[in-house]
Formats: sequence, structure tokens, C-alpha cells
Amino acid sequence: MELETGAPAAGGGCVARAPDGRVVFVRHALPGERVVAEVTAETASFLRADAVAVLSASPDRVAPPCRHAGPGRCGGCDWQHVALPAQRRLKEQLVAEQLRRVAGDTRSVVVEPAPGETDGMGWRTRVRFSVDRSGRIGLRRHRSHEVEPVASCPVASDDVNGVDAGRHRWRGARTVEVAALPARSGGGPSGAVVTVTTARGRPMDVPRLDAGCVVDGRTVQEPGGMDTEVLGHRYRVSGGVFWQAHRGAPAVLASAVLDGLEPMAGERTVDLYAGAGLFTLMLADAVGASGSVLAVERNARACEDLTVSARGFPQVSVLRAAVDADLVASRIGSPDLVVLDPAREGAGRPVMASLRDLRPSPRRVAFVSCDAATFARDLRVLTDAGWTMPSLRAFDLFPMTEHVELVGVLVPPVTT
Ligand SMILES: C[S@@+](CC[C@H](N)C(=O)[O-])C[C@H]1O[C@@H](n2cnc3c(N)ncnc32)[C@H](O)[C@@H]1O
Repeated sequence: MELETGAPAAGGGCVARAPDGRVVFVRHALPGERVVAEVTAETASFLRADAVAVLSASPDRVAPPCRHAGPGRCGGCDWQHVALPAQRRLKEQLVAEQLRRVAGDTRSVVVEPAPGETDGMGWRTRVRFSVDRSGRIGLRRHRSHEVEPVASCPVASDDVNGVDAGRHRWRGARTVEVAALPARSGGGPSGAVVTVTTARGRPMDVPRLDAGCVVDGRTVQEPGGMDTEVLGHRYRVSGGVFWQAHRGAPAVLASAVLDGLEPMAGERTVDLYAGAGLFTLMLADAVGASGSVLAVERNARACEDLTVSARGFPQVSVLRAAVDADLVASRIGSPDLVVLDPAREGAGRPVMASLRDLRPSPRRVAFVSCDAATFARDLRVLTDAGWTMPSLRAFDLFPMTEHVELVGVLVPPVTT
């Protein structure tokens, strides 16, 4: 059907109206275009479609730089057909809309580019590939289990593509993640790690690679970890442990968190969802030996890495546990500062309610999120209780996709 496309919608498409009045979410389109769209899914109330021909193009449309992009092809990127500055404007609209609708916050949003970003390509320091039946790696098609074979991903860094994982067949593997963090400053390359999960834990032959290899949590080819440096701190990050994907993300997020919290010597701080401790070491440095940092993380390998990286910071304690409402209410004490950096699904209302009910309240909370919808939902729990968000920064740490990283600084109401 022919459609006129309107505002951007969460999920990487634009909203349009079908002749029968139903809403259509159209991928591979831009606002203000006239397109021929092919329906890909249908419910009673809405349709999903791909723009397969453009009758009237937006001035923001560009030729996709990746040969795997397009209707029915790789689902890894949403906006290969959109000029980079326009991608940021779309993200600004999407975040502002979520804040307004879900959290009742009507501020306008500015999405900042990652430092040094030029064309939105080559930024990923890790890519998780799927594996097709014949053992080839690739990326899933949008909303599908089908794999688009992708031997080399142009959004990934040269170091990731340099592992050349696409040269091999990975029979027996379900996913193959290739990670190559930037080298520590002044040293050699940090090396790459390939982390494999197998189908139902079956043994498999691992190809010989110029990289460490971890299969189902077991290191089968050393080194099974990497060393990386951010703003003067050294981190160990093992295969499979979370680390920010954009090469510029760790430094930009750590700076935003520190700028927002303004930690002071002697303060008690908590880093919830700490991962390998990106923010933990920064906080430890800022609060000094008279302060404290409690890092809470549920992944065992991440906790081990964090413990190694935090040697030399006796003010850091690592708690391997799932963050939940009880833990916040009973195991983190009464911190001056809290960092909250949950996965995409957010912290959830019960955790936020426990944070809200801490007495005394933390002086500030830095809320880091890669999902505007769950961020707005969780934020509302605090703002409904009188908390304010004097600063919200948004960073374009996922170019070519609809995703964006947020850092909100929250302050409790003044109690008399
Ligand atoms: C978005 S990452 C942030 C990690 C770290 N702050 C960073 O920037 O590198 C979220 C982390 O939370 C952990 N995680 C997810 N759900 C959790 C939970 N309920 N309790 C504790 N950790 C959790 C994941 O293992 C992951 O390391």
C-alpha cells in the first residue's frame, strides 16, 4: 500500500495510517515520506510494514552505507538510511515523547554525539552474532529468528572484524560474541575475546583464532579476558561480561556520572548493576579512602573482574547479588550517592520505590539507562514523590540504531 509517514515510533519505524484507519509502523522510512509499504505483520489494531520503495524522499534520506541493510535484511541497525544528524533529531523526539507521555516531563532533549564520532560506523567494540544452521555467523533479521549471514559488520570496529570470526563455521554454537576493547593507553592491544554459547551446552570444536575464547563460561583459549583503561583506571573485562559497546561510551558516561553526582571525599556511595565496575572505580577515586563504594552486581564473572580491578581501593566492597526491592531496603545502608545502571528492562517500580523510601534520602542519584521507555516509567516513581531531575543528558552511543543512552541526575525533595 502507499503511505504517508509521520512521527518516529519506538522500534525504529515511523507511524502511518492505513486506508482502513489502522496504525502502521513502517520501517525503512523517515517522517514526511511517501512510500510503498509491504505489510510484514498484522493485528486487529495495527500493522507492521517495510518501506520497499520511496515515492517522495525526505531530505534526510541517504544511501545505506552497509550492504546488509534494507527491508527483510539484517535487523541489527534501524537507521542506515538516515543521515547521522537526523538520527539524533529522531532520538531527541523519541526520548522527549516517552518522558512526556510516561513521566509527565515536558523538557526538550538534546542528544550529544559520542566524542570523535564522524560517520556512525566502526564504533562497536563487541558484536553478538547468531549462528545459522550451517554454522555461519550473522545477525538476526528484524523480529525474526532467521539469520542474515554477516561475516564482517561495518558498524563494528576494525579490531572486532579483524578477528575474522566470519571465516569459520561455528557448528554447535548458538551465539558468538566478538569483543575487542580499545588498548590500554601506552600499552599494546588489549586482545580480543570470542564468547560462545552452545546449543544446549553440547561440546563443540572451536576454530583456532587470534583471540581468547570462552565457551559456555569456560576459557578454552587464553586469554579469556581483556584489559582496558578508562580515564586513568584499569579494568579487567572477561569474555561475556558486560561492557559498554561504543568505544567512546565508558569515558563519556563515567564523566557524565561524576559531573552529575559531584562526589565528595568521605561520602558513602552505591553502584547498583555495577557490571565490571566502570563507575565503581571512578567513585572510589572521588570519595577517597575515607569514603566507601558498595558495588552490587549479580553476574559472578563480572564480580570477579571488579574485585581484581578494585585491588588498591580498600573502600570498595563487591556484593554479588540481584538488585531487588528488599536488597535496596535492607542491604545498602543509607548512601549519600547512588548510581543506577540497569539493563534495558530497567530497575522496575519496586526497586525505585525502595530507593524513594530510603531514609535519609541519598543526596543524589545518577540514573543511567539505554531505554527511554523503562527510564521514564522508573523515573516517575521518584518524581511522583517530589524528586526532581535537574539534569538529563542523552548520548548517541548507538549510531545507526534507534537506541540512545541517558544519564539523569535525581535530587530528593527538601524535607523540613
Ligand atoms: C547496563 S549494564 C551496566 C554495567 C556497568 N554499570 C557498566 O556501565 O559497565 C547492567 C548490569 O546489570 C547486571 N544486572 C542485570 N540485572 C541485575 C540485577 N537484577 N541485579 C544485579 N545486577 C543485574 C548485568 O549483569 C550487567 O552487568
